[in-house]
Amino acid sequence: MIAEGLLRELSEILGPKGLLTDPEDMAPFVTDFRNRRTGRALAVLLPATTQEASLAVRAVTSRKIPIFPQGGNTGLCYGAVPTDGVVLGLKRMRSLREADGRSGLLSVDAGVTLAEVHLQAEKLGMQFPLYLGSEGTAQIGGLISTNAGGTGVLRYGSMRDLIAGVEVVLADGKVLNEMAGLRKNNTGYSITQLVAGAEGTLGIVTGAVLRLAPRMSSRAHAWLGLDTIEAALEVGSRVRKAFGAQVEALELVDRAEASYVVRHIPDVRMPLSELPPYSLMIEVASPGVGEDLTTQLENVMASAMDDALVVDAVIAKSEKQAHEIWHFRHSVTEANKINGIGVVLDTSVRPSAIPDFVAHADRVTAERFPEAERAIVAHLADGNVHYIVMFPHDVWSSYPDKMAKELEVEEAIHDVCAAHGGSFSAEHGIGRKLTGEMQRLLDPVRLDVMSRIKQALDPEGLLNPGALLPKASL
Ligand code: LAC
Ligand code: ZN
Repeated sequence: MIAEGLLRELSEILGPKGLLTDPEDMAPFVTDFRNRRTGRALAVLLPATTQEASLAVRAVTSRKIPIFPQGGNTGLCYGAVPTDGVVLGLKRMRSLREADGRSGLLSVDAGVTLAEVHLQAEKLGMQFPLYLGSEGTAQIGGLISTNAGGTGVLRYGSMRDLIAGVEVVLADGKVLNEMAGLRKNNTGYSITQLVAGAEGTLGIVTGAVLRLAPRMSSRAHAWLGLDTIEAALEVGSRVRKAFGAQVEALELVDRAEASYVVRHIPDVRMPLSELPPYSLMIEVASPGVGEDLTTQLENVMASAMDDALVVDAVIAKSEKQAHEIWHFRHSVTEANKINGIGVVLDTSVRPSAIPDFVAHADRVTAERFPEAERAIVAHLADGNVHYIVMFPHDVWSSYPDKMAKELEVEEAIHDVCAAHGGSFSAEHGIGRKLTGEMQRLLDPVRLDVMSRIKQALDPEGLLNPGALLPKASL
């Protein structure tokens, strides 16, 4: 139960729209979007301004009650699932603060969705180059806090590379404003970069200055069918050599994953006559007007076909076809959610190590989880392989301890990844899913440094407790 006094104070700060205590109203805030984990909360706080957020945080933490920050709740690591205390959701903080086209900067509240940012960037004749499936729901604050990746990382970097500053409410309610939007500012530690990827454990992001990129005027897109990952790597490397920094995306999807999308997402279209073992989706783009990138891409593909690397290929002939390719690609998480229970790994290795890593993981999966199917989605050029161990719903229901099963799969594949020199979290973060793996696999020195930073900024451990850092390290 939440104390009467605190409730009154919060309701004064936040108003009727900003405070939920009815379990029915709170339900969407206590469960992750795939309905895998449900937590609990005493209340949900929805501040509309930084001032409200700051006052609410102080009211709560001064009473030693933990706060669970939440953006669009689209994460895959349960980092936004509260375990106690109050949820602080950013969804009512939706103001566009400042558009500065000349500087290529857009300042927004943390609760603005990625789709809205895309729209605003377009209005300025630019783009915000973060592309991922949940753009309609994912919010800027959450994307920063998880240092989100997606399909544009190869060219533009991940979320931490796309911010020029943040505004953050600290554990005691103080507001740290790093919104000057300066390219150069060497006045010591970058708190902005510290907060990016901190999953709300050091402070709550309430605003951000986003770095825009030029809009692309000329583009070419292709969908290639290939027999092996090796072939995809070779073609990907040729595309990069031919186009350099113009490569927008190089995405790999295997047949199993593509079949889930075809089966479960009604409005997708697969341009090849049949699903190949591997599909490589390519986009190249330039800000220059009227450049013929399509012919150049066709040339690269023709030589790859001559060398028997490619079994089937389609070049997008219209905007509509291009949109279809990327709509298909970005539908994987929705499709997986319907298809079964996918244990989605977020591993990264060097791109050249991907074939050996996957072959090794396949052997382990076949031996230890024969009831599951392997599917793959990979940001190929980043070496980021979402190796997915997909269990049918009925098989998964039969496991008595689902969390233990999930962990068993994760540990098995993470061990394979470590054997190939990789990381067990490339772009999804740690959340509450991988804290044990942090303890098991992370360099203890790194973990110690992180714990000391946490201790300095949140000595009582009230900001998103249980996420990111293993309890034993605190
Ligand atoms: C993707 C998510 C799973 O790449 O990160 O679609
Ligand atoms: Zn991904």
